[in-house]
Amino acid sequence: MAVSPEKTMTDFWSVPAGIPKRVGIAADHGGFESKEYLVGKLRAAQYAVVDFGDEQQRPDDDYPDFIVPLARAVARGEVDRGVAICGSGVGACVAANKVPGVRACLIHESFSARQGVEDDDIRVICLGGRVVANTFAWELVRTFLEARFSGAERHRRRLAKVSALEGVETRI
Ligand code: RB5
Repeated sequence: MAVSPEKTMTDFWSVPAGIPKRVGIAADHGGFESKEYLVGKLRAAQYAVVDFGDEQQRPDDDYPDFIVPLARAVARGEVDRGVAICGSGVGACVAANKVPGVRACLIHESFSARQGVEDDDIRVICLGGRVVANTFAWELVRTFLEARFSGAERHRRRLAKVSALEGVETRI
């Protein structure tokens, strides 16, 4: 097969068996361009992608309007994993973690993209569209999607202590 020089290995990569296949994605204006790039990559890799918006670049849109529906879909099991993007990734992370049952984290490097799933069972990766280059964002998303929760007893114990806070903690 002739390979055009501008193609990289990731252009030929597709979902390995046993890894999450339904992926939700959402972004505000700060992450819109990254979202469009990642949707293309995810679909080319044969993921079933649900795009929670924004559907176009709107400078005045608000990240909770897209991130919260994505986080709810993750909590309900309607998608297996989520990708939440805003300018820094911070607002997306704060909003996603307000939805009970969701564990979301802002990720800037590969170690945490993997270990955040293996140890902490995160289901949503949060990215800064103004911080992380698109090609590296795709590497982080792939690492996150390919990782599996280890299920180790010590991690389950720690996660149970975190989950126990939901509905118990009140505003200070
Ligand atoms: C919007 O300008 C920006 O604040 C938002 O995309 C995000 O970075 C918030 O954390």
